[in-house]
Amino acid sequence: MAKPNNKIPCRAPICVLKFGSSVLTKIEDYDAAAHEIYRHVRNGEKVVAVVSALAGETDALFGLADQVGVTPPADLSARLVRVGELKSSALMALALANVGIRTSVLDPHEIGLTAEGDALDANLTGIDADAVAARLTTNEVLVAPGFIAEGQNGVVTLGRGGTDLTAVFFAHEIGADRVRLIKDVDGVYARDPNKYADAARFDALDYDEAVKVSAGLIQEKAILEAKAKGVVIEVASPGKCYATRVADTAIEEGPRAKDPQLKVALLGRGAVGEGTLQHLLDRPDLFKLGPVLVRNVEAHQATAPEGIVFTKDLDTALANQPDIIVELVGGADWPADIIERGLHENAHIVTANKAALAKHYDRLIPKAYDKGLALHFSAAVGGGTPIIEALDRLAVESGVRQVEGVMNGTGNYLLARLSEGWSFDAALKKAQELGFAEADPSTDVDGHDAADKLSLIIRRAFGRDVAPNRIPKQSLADITPELAQAALARGEVLKQVGTAALNPDGSITAKVEILSLPQDHPLAAAKNEQNAFLVTERTGQVHTVFGKGAGRWPTAASVFADIMDIYRTIVRQQSGIHTEAPKRPMLSDAFHEAHQNAHPQALARPAE
Ligand code: HSE
Repeated sequence: MAKPNNKIPCRAPICVLKFGSSVLTKIEDYDAAAHEIYRHVRNGEKVVAVVSALAGETDALFGLADQVGVTPPADLSARLVRVGELKSSALMALALANVGIRTSVLDPHEIGLTAEGDALDANLTGIDADAVAARLTTNEVLVAPGFIAEGQNGVVTLGRGGTDLTAVFFAHEIGADRVRLIKDVDGVYARDPNKYADAARFDALDYDEAVKVSAGLIQEKAILEAKAKGVVIEVASPGKCYATRVADTAIEEGPRAKDPQLKVALLGRGAVGEGTLQHLLDRPDLFKLGPVLVRNVEAHQATAPEGIVFTKDLDTALANQPDIIVELVGGADWPADIIERGLHENAHIVTANKAALAKHYDRLIPKAYDKGLALHFSAAVGGGTPIIEALDRLAVESGVRQVEGVMNGTGNYLLARLSEGWSFDAALKKAQELGFAEADPSTDVDGHDAADKLSLIIRRAFGRDVAPNRIPKQSLADITPELAQAALARGEVLKQVGTAALNPDGSITAKVEILSLPQDHPLAAAKNEQNAFLVTERTGQVHTVFGKGAGRWPTAASVFADIMDIYRTIVRQQSGIHTEAPKRPMLSDAFHEAHQNAHPQALARPAE
């Protein structure tokens, strides 16, 4: 368990992730980096992402300085090369915006990041931790350009590999849990693993040994700074569940991990299916895709990515004994049958299908648990908003008393447009065009979608069965532009809010209603298709969980993160490698723990 940060008044643990040029080699790599960051956000961590320039950019900028200046002064070269990091941090923030993660970019002058010494090899001296803290309260992720700082006489850089130093400095100054250097190798090796297949990989290294064996991989200044300040460094590659840990620790060697290539059956190529397909195709090293199940093969074949074939026959899609089935077909009963069949045939399941899960939870989840398989459905509730993960953590750790949330992106988008004077029909049409609405949009409008999600929230938060059709819901159909604008005139905003509360007598209250909230209410911060949740622990502590609730990319990011969680679990099981403790257990384990330990009464049905 990550230790709570005690330097910044922020309840979540903070993790510093550093992305160097070895993993930022082309524009598409920012999406992969965003997935890596999102993985930590799902774990309930706040992330400071420190980024280098794209590969080759710093050299190119130094080259430019040489081209224009005869003997370019160091301070002017520093001023020019910083552009690479500034550009890179903006690109990283753009990639994070696609996932829907609240992100702010911190340039050195905005956070008082100061340094002294040579303009091209300076050392960091200070940071305004309060300014960082202020940004962390309303963002899940801060992106900071590495390598550059404010010197006494203008811009300075921190020497080659200086982004490592920025990351270590941040970690210490803001009380981060650890700094994880994301590299193109999966740890520190005794010899170059590309040249020597038998090179030993370290699980753990002390700082002095790290200086000796990681030359060229970790900046020496950064290791010495970490040693002086007691900062734990991890060296890992994207998506991996293990790392080399550099700390005040005994040296440990570990086996080299093998990356299995898992067989994936993708069912559905709608808005979310297409996004998921793209993410899977980006990792051919990890995933081999079978025929993709679609309704109209001819229509899809015309836009088929290379190597992808389509089928409308479920048996063909599942023929190759997939390790993971990704169910994105929509509906309730047929998808539930497919999930059950997949579990029966020993496949792990990822689905975004709230209707199927809400209706058939008792049929599917216990079966997954009994078979030791994952049935992940993070995207079913909140799209890219990691509410299910938050509930899984909190239900096990301390227990949940109440969950309130804006949990239908289409409805929230509609209300936003109505408050601007759009007609209901025009707003709904636009929500459909943007890919937010369900195939039958009355599902969104009449609150059925929110009720399905609330039913799943009740399962995860309280371990209880409240069927969606038992949840009272207020339709958005009666809301006019006049009503929405009148709310604005009062300094309020209309929101469709789902609430589930565990009452002192053990009963559950659940409802979906349209509320007029003050503009500064935390749920009012959810704009357009965004979702927001307030989770109240039994201790009274309130957590905010925020993200984009609908749309291709946020939802596909969530589906893909579920797939990657399964991937890492399988690697752990197969490789025997010494890995970090899983932050997110298999869903079935979380289910078991939440039900058996935290809520011994939870499996009891509520009185009818
Ligand atoms: N139609 C749903 C919504 C999609 O608008 O929230 C995501 O569940």
